[in-house]
Amino acid sequence: MAVLISGRGSNLQSIIDAMAQRELDATIAIVISNRTDAAGLKRAQDAGLETATLNPREYDNRDAYDAAIVEMLRAHDVGLVCLAGFMRLVGPRMLAAFPGAVLNIHPSLLPSFPGLDAQRQALEHGVRISGATVHLVTSELDGGPIVMQSAVPVLDDDTVETLSARILVEEHRIYPQAIREVLDGGWRLDGRRFVARRH
Ligand code: GRF
Repeated sequence: MAVLISGRGSNLQSIIDAMAQRELDATIAIVISNRTDAAGLKRAQDAGLETATLNPREYDNRDAYDAAIVEMLRAHDVGLVCLAGFMRLVGPRMLAAFPGAVLNIHPSLLPSFPGLDAQRQALEHGVRISGATVHLVTSELDGGPIVMQSAVPVLDDDTVETLSARILVEEHRIYPQAIREVLDGGWRLDGRRFVARRH
């Protein structure tokens, strides 16, 4: 698989750790960032993974950028693309090249609070429960079929920072699990519903 990042890379780290602990039987063929200053690149290099940075500014438009990513993914024989804090919309070219094989993690219980600043949105809305969602990526922003979710309470004295930290613990727990479930295969989509293989 490939992991696409833009920043800190803590979810990338949780995937690397799950693989090291043999909780996830997979190979990361490449970690791609759209930013040279993404701290996650160092995490990848420390784990001995191949990395690449593709700067969107060096491409004419989104489609050309997506084409470059797709080419790189194909060259690395990637079967599953995991977005982990990748702060760019994925265009139709990438979705067509990897149908049902692009995953994302989002820090809210979707469909509540898609888009940027999900934790702040949840806090400002006043929900008592929020959480993390792993979903298949479609053309709808944060709107694809849900693979796994985990809920956390929102506490009276929460700030964006404390709520984000509580959600992040769940992100790190469920992303490797969800990846394993998708890689296991045998799942199907029933309308919007991701139906895992019966064991
Ligand atoms: C996470 O909160 C993830 O849910 C969101 O972006 C953040 C990335 O954090 N999509 P990290 O780079 O994995 O530490």
